[in-house]
Amino acid sequence: MITGAYPLSRARRNRFDGFTRRLVAETTLTTDNLIWPIFVCDGQNTRTQVSSMPGVERVSIDLLESHLEEAVALGIPAVALFPITPPDIRDSKGREATNPDNLMCRAAREIKRLYPDLGLIGDVALDPYTDHGHDGLIENGYVVNDASVEILALQAMNQAAAGIDIIAPSDMMDGRIGAIRAALDKAGYENTRIMSYAAKYASAFYGPFRDALGSGGLLKGDKKTYQMDPANTDEALREVAQDLQEGADMVMVKPGMPYLDIIRRVRDNFAVPTFAYQVSGEYAMLMAAIQNGWLDRDRAILESLLAFRRAGCNGVLTYFAVEAARLLARGA
Ligand code: PBG
Repeated sequence: MITGAYPLSRARRNRFDGFTRRLVAETTLTTDNLIWPIFVCDGQNTRTQVSSMPGVERVSIDLLESHLEEAVALGIPAVALFPITPPDIRDSKGREATNPDNLMCRAAREIKRLYPDLGLIGDVALDPYTDHGHDGLIENGYVVNDASVEILALQAMNQAAAGIDIIAPSDMMDGRIGAIRAALDKAGYENTRIMSYAAKYASAFYGPFRDALGSGGLLKGDKKTYQMDPANTDEALREVAQDLQEGADMVMVKPGMPYLDIIRRVRDNFAVPTFAYQVSGEYAMLMAAIQNGWLDRDRAILESLLAFRRAGCNGVLTYFAVEAARLLARGA
């Protein structure tokens, strides 16, 4: 080749070796970015596998100490608690949600006793407690809004009283953030934070989670009259704006990987603490490929999580949290 025909700028120079790649990296993933969702069940010394989520278990309260030990040692900042309510305790109104001795509250108190510095995130929605599997109350076949919000506010207060630090409403009722904020403040929980599932879509990717909770088989119909249509993105911005105006401290987009565009728009438009949920179906999908040897486990996990950071997330709720924290600790 003759002189002058060479490119003046070579993007590859900054990729030449490891230290240069590290210097020019625009995004990083650390353990501070990880939130671990955990499933808690009733009973003693009980540990069951979620079949559609290989490696994910439901554990009873007495096993929480050992279950959480490594996560705490690795420095994972917070866990998100999901209770498995036996069918005989469920009813049409989700009454168990407001029982101060329900599984969620007992687990929260125990975790606070064991690990006082570990952040606790509580899912607020009625689906773990209803016999129809919906997130709110049903009247004439429709999930009604305002009456559901009343119960959700009581559920949030119940969780705050048990020591939950961050209330995370995942129900998608209108006005629930404002109602929960007002209820919390009135009861003296003005520092209990709210992470709103602001843009939560009616997604096929929640299937394995509903199996884990035992609400999948119970669910009558779908959640399309309250969760968002996957076709929409401007609407996600209106949902986020509304929740922030009502007092949300942090917002969440869910599912995660198929919705990175939504995360980016939320981050650019609002510049508020933004989270995403790499949901059960995403985990199941990755694990299926990993178990078949079709994907490199460590690299696929870390790349999938880094993508959330690049899209603008502060953190990610992920069933890979402990695995990822282990890899990060090893400097992978
Ligand atoms: C329900 C809730 C769901 C998830 C978290 N909270 C499922 C649903 O909306 O049906 C899904 C999490 C996952 O799939 O990992 N309030």
